Amino acid sequence: MCGIIGIVSQNQVQSHLIDGLKRLEYRGYDSAGIATVQDNQIHRRRSAGKLINLQNLVESEPIQGQIGIGHTRWATHGAANTENAHPHSSREVAVVHNGIIENFSDLKKHLQEKGYTFQSDTDTEVIVYLITDYLHQGNDPLTAVQKTLTKLQGAFALAILFKDAPDTLIATRHGSPLVLGIKENELFVSSDAVAFAPWTQQVCYLEEGDLAVLNAGDCFSYELYDRDGHKVDRPLRRSQITGESVSKAEYSHYMLKEIFEQPTVLSDTLQSLLNLENQKVSLKDIDLNWKMLNRIQIIACGTSYYAGLVAKYWFEKWAGIAVDVEIASEFRYRSPVMSSNTLNILISQSGETIDTLAVLSQLKEHGHQVLALVNVPESSIARKADYVLQTLAGPEIGVASTKAFTSQLMVLACLCLKTGKERDVIKPDVYESLVQALVSLPGMISYVLQNSEIYQKLALGFTTARNCLYLGRGITYPIALEGALKLKEISYIHAEGYAAGELKHGPIALVDLTMPVVVLAPYDEWFEKTLSNLQEVIARGAQLLCLTDQKGEEKIRQQIKAGYSMEIVVFPQVDTFIEPILYTIPVQLLAYYIALLKGTDIDQPRNLAKSVTVE
Ligand code: F6R
Repeated sequence: MCGIIGIVSQNQVQSHLIDGLKRLEYRGYDSAGIATVQDNQIHRRRSAGKLINLQNLVESEPIQGQIGIGHTRWATHGAANTENAHPHSSREVAVVHNGIIENFSDLKKHLQEKGYTFQSDTDTEVIVYLITDYLHQGNDPLTAVQKTLTKLQGAFALAILFKDAPDTLIATRHGSPLVLGIKENELFVSSDAVAFAPWTQQVCYLEEGDLAVLNAGDCFSYELYDRDGHKVDRPLRRSQITGESVSKAEYSHYMLKEIFEQPTVLSDTLQSLLNLENQKVSLKDIDLNWKMLNRIQIIACGTSYYAGLVAKYWFEKWAGIAVDVEIASEFRYRSPVMSSNTLNILISQSGETIDTLAVLSQLKEHGHQVLALVNVPESSIARKADYVLQTLAGPEIGVASTKAFTSQLMVLACLCLKTGKERDVIKPDVYESLVQALVSLPGMISYVLQNSEIYQKLALGFTTARNCLYLGRGITYPIALEGALKLKEISYIHAEGYAAGELKHGPIALVDLTMPVVVLAPYDEWFEKTLSNLQEVIARGAQLLCLTDQKGEEKIRQQIKAGYSMEIVVFPQVDTFIEPILYTIPVQLLAYYIALLKGTDIDQPRNLAKSVTVE
């Protein structure tokens, strides 16, 4: 969602602000802007739409200044136009803001009564006038911000410039992440370390409620205050995110690069969880009473929720434990009946999703233990959870999740094996063979990727489709859901994923000659049933794409009536356990190449945000 960058430098900051915003584009946005302070005046440029509009604007009307803030806005309060774009400013201050101010209408009324005139429909502007008002009352910038914070309700992060304190930038976090980047003679603040990755890896993550004062002056320094206003130190860390990890390299899109990174990141993730000597899953620091567990509850949103659905099949079959999978935005407003001896697993690649974070707080308030599975170890969810398992997917810039999803699956597969073993449910030989299946996966995925041109050709058959159906049974059913989600996210073709057995209960009414149907049908325990569903689709003349293996292909060709043409893609025969990970790759590639033909904005699909930090 929205992105913040702030820079205090000995050089002009305009071009770095724009560069930083470019690296935040992936989070999703619909307008952008920057502000600086120069000659005791605030200078500001804002533009609706893509960053290129802002770039063009600053090229024709540049602004000067060695201190500045920038923002990419994902509209919540008010349309995505220039007036609502950040920074918002008065004569005295300029503010960029992530998150939502819940009590903004009361504050706005109060400020209007005091004579302040609002220029936008945003909730952010109340912050501008509150700070301005406190400055007018004679407070210094720090006190004015601290007093303003006591009035604000909601989850937010801010970066603020002051006309009369041209060496000072104040930033603060309340429910929305912020990180400082530290370099000699240059300081950065951002909602995401990606923004300043090419310039420094030395970072300091603000804790909840922290406020940072960045100073230029004689030497570049910063001070941190906690939520009670006490000066604090926070540890400096080395960020894993480098300039290289946020480049597209030779790929046309981040999404394609990230699809092709999967053999490496899955191998890295697996190796981080395997004891290489004995090839056993070892989850260091996860000290659970595995034998006492009688239930697992997985809670997540979107693609991460689908990873949870795959895990349900795994844990039930190979670890003999009951699993419930829940959508976080529903779970948080229900009255779930919790039982003891339940392991709560929250899955979130960003670790910042507001609904998942809210569930975490609720679970903790009621004394339940939480294991978080995240891709960002410094994220809010990781920091609040009792136990953390990390996917080593590296930064994922494409908004539609690919490598983060399969890495989540890799971790969940390992967790399942560990649970099955500790509970003496899984036989040693089965355990060994499943570990070997996981070890073989990166190689299998490389093979599928080497043949990616198949999907370029297949994509041609989808470009005129208005609707598309994905079917799977058993362990590939969640991958049908994921395939449909990927397609709708990036190609804007309406797609639905269904359990193949549900076809007759409704969606078959949609099937006709114009409807492409993608069937995930590896030759496994569910295959024969899926084959019957295939027949039902064929009988209605749909365009069929079947993803299967060699045995599956033989069976399909024996049974399908001569003359019916369908596309079949054949995959290596693999253990059922790893099918969901392997069969994710073709649905990703298919969605990618269909979107490419349709000419959509693949890395930044319309209306979507990478990290969903508002409800
Ligand atoms: C889809 C996608 C989203 C996210 C969802 C939750 O490609 O990435 O559906 O999975 O917004 O985000 P995280 O995993 O960060 O909690």
